[in-house]
Amino acid sequence: MNKKRVLSGIRATGRLHLGNYFGAIKGMLTLQDDPEFETLYMVADLHTLTTPYQVEELRQNRREIIIDYLAAGLDPEKSILFQQSANPHHAEFAFYLSSVVTIAKMQHLPTFKDKVKQYPQYVTMALLNYPVLMAADILIYKASDVPVGIDQEPHLEVAREIARRMNQDYGTDFPEPQIFKTIGEYVSSLTGEGKMSKSVEGSYINLTDDLETIRKKIAKIPTDSGKGIIDKGVYISRSAMPNNGVVAIAPSNGVKNLMEFIELFKGKERRKELDNQYQDVGLRYSEVKNELAEAIYQELQPIQEKRQELENNPQKVDSIISVGNEKATVLASEVVKEVREKMGLL
Ligand code: ADP
Ligand code: TRP
Repeated sequence: MNKKRVLSGIRATGRLHLGNYFGAIKGMLTLQDDPEFETLYMVADLHTLTTPYQVEELRQNRREIIIDYLAAGLDPEKSILFQQSANPHHAEFAFYLSSVVTIAKMQHLPTFKDKVKQYPQYVTMALLNYPVLMAADILIYKASDVPVGIDQEPHLEVAREIARRMNQDYGTDFPEPQIFKTIGEYVSSLTGEGKMSKSVEGSYINLTDDLETIRKKIAKIPTDSGKGIIDKGVYISRSAMPNNGVVAIAPSNGVKNLMEFIELFKGKERRKELDNQYQDVGLRYSEVKNELAEAIYQELQPIQEKRQELENNPQKVDSIISVGNEKATVLASEVVKEVREKMGLL
């Protein structure tokens, strides 16, 4: 039986947070343990070059992310773990694929426009080419399933378009890759606004945070009086209503986010109980937040212990990385050869 392939990656831009863990790594773990799939997980170190970065930090992070993967439970016996740039075919393949993509299409992507706003001085060719390189990462293994957060959907759409074009123009048989969704496909920010992201200070909890740090961060989630009504998922505090019950001020997203975190870490049932309490006797946020901080730490503690163990064994990590890099290069070279032939380069 030919197994379906899975490919995912995370940019080497810093330490991982709960958004990365739920949006990407949980899905990677699920598919790694499913015998129907062959799984490849990389550090997207080439993608790090698309925005300003520090050379020494990149050198460290491209190794640290692999350690995070291993600590979180990715298993080199089951998955190929590798560094994108150590397989020279990714950049080569991205060039072939770039010949079926227009500049206009890339300029109109919302993810490109966001980065242009963020770094107006660094609108480089590498940045414009980001989605093409990502399509190359996926298609070079003919992967069909991609465990990433929902924010990556515009990039997956580009990968599907490129697959269709290549299949039409050159008779290749690339599958159209789909996001593999997890329950945490969108983890909200601790600030109450937007998604958890390493580029927004105060929005995230790192996988390496200790209990005290987690407590302090959770304590900052904005809340309300603790008692009110829930209308279509919106939490409206009593203190926000004048006597006649009409809503006077905007509801707090913080409470909604807090409850979503409760659901992620304590389950649907616990959230239901607390939702009922909010609408009945009222909540004491200090208790809810404490319960949440402990549940998060409980999930992270084994990951942190495993990380410590790996840090103490650098040779083991080095050997896992070099074996993974080698395997990924061998697999990719088969598809590259096929495409070079079909495009007239062999
Ligand atoms: P960041 O936004 O912190 O820079 P990345 O862009 O490096 O995160 O994302 C790496 C992976 O983690 C991607 O698959 C992305 O979809 C996922 N991810 C990042 N933030 C979140 C989030 N808040 N919720 C769900 N998934 C996320
Ligand atoms: N764009 C992804 C992110 O921001 C990282 C990435 C690069 C990726 N290449 C990939 C994800 C291929 C999945 C598949 O996190």
